[in-house]
Amino acid sequence: MKRLYIQEVATRDGFQNEARFIDTADKIAMVDALSQCGYAKIEVTSFTSPKAIPVLRDAEQVMHGIQRHPGVEYTVLVPNVRGAERALACAIDEANLVMSVSESHNRSNLRMTREQSFAQLKEVVQVVGQGPVAINVSLSTVFGCPMQGDIANDEVLRWVGRFAELGVRGVTLCDTTGMAFPSQVRALSAQVRERFAHLQTTLHFHNTRGMALANALAAIEAGIDRFDASLGGLGGCPYAPGASGNVCTEDLVHMLQLMGYDTGIDLDRVLAAAGRLPHLIGHDVPSQILKAGRRLDLHPVPARVMEMQQQESPLKEITS
Ligand code: COA
Ligand code: ZN
Repeated sequence: MKRLYIQEVATRDGFQNEARFIDTADKIAMVDALSQCGYAKIEVTSFTSPKAIPVLRDAEQVMHGIQRHPGVEYTVLVPNVRGAERALACAIDEANLVMSVSESHNRSNLRMTREQSFAQLKEVVQVVGQGPVAINVSLSTVFGCPMQGDIANDEVLRWVGRFAELGVRGVTLCDTTGMAFPSQVRALSAQVRERFAHLQTTLHFHNTRGMALANALAAIEAGIDRFDASLGGLGGCPYAPGASGNVCTEDLVHMLQLMGYDTGIDLDRVLAAAGRLPHLIGHDVPSQILKAGRRLDLHPVPARVMEMQQQESPLKEITS
């Protein structure tokens, strides 16, 4: 059975997009519940400017409050040196650096040019790289930018290459606004796998145009085994027009388990955690499995149908 690694991002990518502040204790309780679900990694929070992302202004308290579960890596988003210093004071396992391969999106999201971002992140790598903390780089809009359109694969590979040269452990190819489609995903994933086989490569899909599950399967065909996903399908970038939720964890895991993949995930526990979301955030979530149930969560046959069946074939009923 092929092993796949699922990384939960709801408490970062999901919560950063919520208008209402979620209580720190509730965030901690949610991360603690997620820690019991079998994830490879949990992206707990974000050490960005509290002015830019006010709902995650309690990053330190959350990191100090959670209970670490053996086998789970706890990662956090880090946009600059200031964020790295704050994060390193909280015993993180991994720093997830972020920049966009699109100049317009980078300026909109991080308020600087790509070169300025790279220079800052290079400094972050120097600071973080001195200790035991792993470094991942999430590259936004690799499958298309909502302002600039398509980004050439060579341009994406160039940015992956620049970070590989800095010695990072992994890269995440992010479809920030759901512009990816399966054949494109398969081609770019294969190129990244071929050129950067030593990098831990994650795919990060948003379901903005309903293609996230199909894209995940295309990535698996190209040899990718690591995916970000978000409980309830929460998520979105506040600085990307039209962004909406990530691929939903329970929908993704449900499909992959049916297909025989070993995701390491306890789907019952994930569903229990997802069921708490609407109360926590104050609105419904896009999850399909939460609404419809798993494929074989059967419903009782209505009494009148049972009666009809018994009237129509009493003999069959007796002999079977
Ligand atoms: N943590 C806390 N405070 C930070 C910070 C960080 N990582 N980075 C900057 N700040 C503070 C500065 O101290 C400064 O505070 P002051 O106004 O009280 O002096 C203020 O933010 C502005 O700092 P500056 O260096 O000018 O940064 P900026 O305003 O250009 O913002 C980012 C740059 C990247 C920090 C900011 O745009 C940001 O956090 N964006 C959010 C990106 C994001 O998470 N997007 C969604 C996920 S992809
Ligand atoms: Zn995202």
